[in-house]
Amino acid sequence: MDFSNRLQTLAAQTEAALDTLVPALPADAPAGPARIHAAMRYSLQAGGKRLRPALALAAAGLTDTEATAKALPVAAALECIHTYSLIHDDLPCMDDDDLRRGRPTCHRAFDEATALLAGDALLAQAFVITAEAYADRPALAAALLRELARASSGMRLVGGQMQDLLAEGTGKATAAELDFIHLNKTAALLEASLVCGGLVGALPSEALAGLRRAGRHLGLAFQIIDDVLDATADSQTLGKTAGKDARAGKATYVSLHGLAASTRAAAEETTQARAALAGLPGDPALLLGLADLMLARQQ
Ligand code: IPE
Ligand code: IPE
Ligand code: MG
Ligand code: MG
Ligand code: MG
Repeated sequence: MDFSNRLQTLAAQTEAALDTLVPALPADAPAGPARIHAAMRYSLQAGGKRLRPALALAAAGLTDTEATAKALPVAAALECIHTYSLIHDDLPCMDDDDLRRGRPTCHRAFDEATALLAGDALLAQAFVITAEAYADRPALAAALLRELARASSGMRLVGGQMQDLLAEGTGKATAAELDFIHLNKTAALLEASLVCGGLVGALPSEALAGLRRAGRHLGLAFQIIDDVLDATADSQTLGKTAGKDARAGKATYVSLHGLAASTRAAAEETTQARAALAGLPGDPALLLGLADLMLARQQ
């Protein structure tokens, strides 16, 4: 199978896992008001790129192709956390965005309180899915839950989002502050995606360290490209509002370093990620392909 077929297969498996593991409307369970499930699914099923699940599944399958299927629950959990972070990121009190994944944002389609709760519920659902799916392997479950929790915490994703908002409009973020923002609001979850995959694949600790290093570089490249696309692409291609960072006075790689240096830095980070991936056991071809795709992406 070639790269794009392999990727399509992983994406299809991810969609199916999300559909099974995230509650549908409460037809057969006392799951509370249908509105919360509708809002969660609205954002989840709006068609994101599913890169975090793809990274987790590819890492899981490095040395043991059967581990790929075993990683599906944690891949779905990672996408739940990511989607929660997008719903909250778009709220009027944060980036105040109207468009996400080509559709009105969750708070536009529903209302602010529902969007807040849908984000909360998706975050919690990630832990429900992981704890239940790996209950028969308690050590693995604990390691995955720890990884997901740390990546989502105030020390990582939420801390990065806080610093992003603190830097907004000040015009005086330093390069080190910007690195902190990127490393945490974005790289933390990409790093966790690779590490969670590696944990399910039972990779040795040096390989897990290699995955973490690769995730850090991939994450930095990914957010630099996100900043570049915000400045250069159009809203229809992106499926989210273009040109928003400059209007909001965000500290971005482009605002601090300019477009040319941003493109160079993203390529450099990708080279470093590729070097870390190339040193992994098994066959890293799929992961290397993902690294290239993340750099070349147009949306
Ligand atoms: C957008 O992530 C938010 C960032 C961390 C830059 P993606 O570009 O992966 O968004 P989706 O999942 O494809 O919508
Ligand atoms: C958000 O960064 C990263 C998250 C943790 C959601 P951005 O605010 O740049 O993401 P977009 O451009 O809205 O997707
Ligand atoms: Mg933001
Ligand atoms: Mg945003
Ligand atoms: Mg952005």
